[in-house]
Amino acid sequence: MSESVSVLISEEDIQKRIGEIAAQINSDYNGNSIILLGILKGSVFFMTDLAKRLNMPVEMCFMDVSSYYDGTESVGDVKINLDLDISIKNRHVLIVEDIIDTGRTLHMLIDRLSSRKPSSIRLAALLNKPIRRDFEIDVDYTGFEIPNKFVVGYGLDYSQRYRNLPYIGSLKFTED
Ligand code: IMP
Ligand code: MG
Repeated sequence: MSESVSVLISEEDIQKRIGEIAAQINSDYNGNSIILLGILKGSVFFMTDLAKRLNMPVEMCFMDVSSYYDGTESVGDVKINLDLDISIKNRHVLIVEDIIDTGRTLHMLIDRLSSRKPSSIRLAALLNKPIRRDFEIDVDYTGFEIPNKFVVGYGLDYSQRYRNLPYIGSLKFTED
């Protein structure tokens, strides 16, 4: 088997769309300070490109989470591998994620974070695969809705590779 990547969303289109999302976020928060909460590792490029275009006071922090999953069924909780080092109580939190697929991870994470009593929690996802949704979840800011393809690049990986591509590509496997 060999792999090949074809461009699905160009670097230029990604940057243009992030500019539009940032303008919307700037307008919605109206100068109020926010905590940008990036979910490692896939969100890092989206997080940094987005943060540079925001004009309110911004704090940046990261969490690393994984959902307990036995391959077929959700076990119902999220495992926090790296937690926040600051309190989110009475703060506006904007979660930044690479892609929402089944929604399992974010659904459970939002549940957990809500108990820490933030003023608000919103979600920005660069990519959204709505057709795959198993868990109801509101995505406040979506970069692109994509079909049910496995994508890599701009933070997204396949076995930890391809994260550094500047574009979003679709990964294809071919028999040698
Ligand atoms: P969910 O809990 O099913 O929504 O899973 C979301 C996580 O799965 C994302 O944060 C990604 O890390 C990973 N993921 C889902 N779809 C893809 C994909 O097409 N390419 C790379 N990673 C993906
Ligand atoms: Mg992820």
